[in-house]
Amino acid sequence: MDKKWWKESVVYQIYPRSFCDSNGDGIGDIKGITSKMDYLKDLGIDVIWLSPVYESPNDDNGYDISDYQAIMKEFGTMEDFEEMLGAAHERGIKLVMDLVVNHTSDEHPWFVESRKSVDNPYRDYYIWRPAKDGKEPNNWGSCFSGPAWEFDEETQMYYLHLFSKKQPDLNWDNPKVRDEVFRMMNWWLDKGVDGFRMDVISLISKKPDLPDGVPGINGYASFNEPANGPHVHEYLQEMREKVLNRADTITVGECSGVTLEEAKKYARSDGKELNMVFQFEHMDVDADGSNKWSDKKMDLRDLKEVMSRWQKGLEDIAWNSLFWENHDQPRSVSRFGNDGEYREASAKMLATCLHMMQGTPYVYQGEELGMTNVPFGKIEDFRDLDSINAYHELTGKGVFSEEEMLRYLRYKSRDNARTPFQWDDGENAGFTTGTPWIMVNPNYKEVNAKEQLAREDSVLNYFRKLIRLRKEYEIIVYGTYDLLLPDSEEIYAYTRTLGDKRLLVVCNFSAGQVRYDAPEEFAGGEILIQNYGDACVGAGMELRPYEAVAVLA
Ligand code: NOJ
Repeated sequence: MDKKWWKESVVYQIYPRSFCDSNGDGIGDIKGITSKMDYLKDLGIDVIWLSPVYESPNDDNGYDISDYQAIMKEFGTMEDFEEMLGAAHERGIKLVMDLVVNHTSDEHPWFVESRKSVDNPYRDYYIWRPAKDGKEPNNWGSCFSGPAWEFDEETQMYYLHLFSKKQPDLNWDNPKVRDEVFRMMNWWLDKGVDGFRMDVISLISKKPDLPDGVPGINGYASFNEPANGPHVHEYLQEMREKVLNRADTITVGECSGVTLEEAKKYARSDGKELNMVFQFEHMDVDADGSNKWSDKKMDLRDLKEVMSRWQKGLEDIAWNSLFWENHDQPRSVSRFGNDGEYREASAKMLATCLHMMQGTPYVYQGEELGMTNVPFGKIEDFRDLDSINAYHELTGKGVFSEEEMLRYLRYKSRDNARTPFQWDDGENAGFTTGTPWIMVNPNYKEVNAKEQLAREDSVLNYFRKLIRLRKEYEIIVYGTYDLLLPDSEEIYAYTRTLGDKRLLVVCNFSAGQVRYDAPEEFAGGEILIQNYGDACVGAGMELRPYEAVAVLA
């Protein structure tokens, strides 16, 4: 058993724009985060992953960086950042920066130079190609609609942008680019940060001939086309040697398009690259083929198949990241649970199911309250460029009607996760005294931290308990995982085993009552956590809607 502190940790993701606004401009900021450090400490989390706070024109809310060593003015100053880092460290909380280096902003000085002329010293920092047959160099699409290429008048060539045209892709094959990135990362480590979450790091190495891919519903190949490219592992090993080996960091690679076999290379426990990866196969269980814009409900059997394949596949080889939510996903209680009558029960059930697996759990702000998707009315209510562009592209091409597309956005838009954190039942949910940059979910009077802090059986207190249990029972961290009942459409049940200890986790993913025959060894065992309060584990138990229970043999 290879013990590591980051395997025993729980990470909490903060999306700063929507967490807490300290100065009334309607935008969350760093001082706001500092003011909530005790809340995080009480929750029991060990690490904060901070979505980008760097200088940015905010085409993609900070994922388009124009200066990696400056703080976005709307969020505060470098002094504010240092104060926040100190406040976290004082409480024993580590801080992970979001490292967005597949691309920069088009307003980054490197790109400003690069586009000036073909012989500019920064030209080769980015990926430039001439037109092919008078059109884009290949058929790749941007993640945010349209082609992944933008024609630049100045030099009459195209540059690659797998995300928006204000996010040009860096050319990692250029050693100068890698040196700049490594120098910048070392600068942040010198400042005292504890690690990095690496944005779409699986996309940094492109095949030199940039081959066409299979087109999707909008006519373009997926932005994931270059995933796991020819030199990605070499570059990450170089990063390990030149940066990460200096300190006991935590690293997680956001690896869109990663397969299990590839993940073993990125996160192999010999420590040559990253500690763990985010994979997205379980986020695709409710997609319509390769198209995420649908309101199809997942089949639990698919979810279990994906989760179990990763649990077993990485066992003793690499390490899983566990998440249902982040700033790019809708709210899990609306997606995989029930945001009506059983909101609280299903939020607790989902948390139990995830936190009892092997891997490092990630809690996305508001998930610990069971925050839900948002009743957005019209397209003007959305702020996310992905949602807005997809709406215009797919309705414009007649793929979906406006009504259909709005329905899909309400279900899947990233903005569902980006509305303000619901602190209390006061104006704007206590997020800001000004006008929030995006609407507040109207259910804040019912769903908010203040109410849940004061109520023992709240979702929030349930999360606190789950997080505490992980520190108390080694089996939750290190036990091996085995799926039970793979064919059940309602029940997700699995065991964990560590030495002669056994843990059973049973979750009812349905709003109905379901009979379950627990293996005999668990009958009358020690219940670690349960969401109904009076479960009785044994043969012929009747699971209530969204019931969850974890029991030691
Ligand atoms: C993944 C991030 O999580 C997402 O929010 C962002 O839009 C893209 N990468 C581009 O940086």
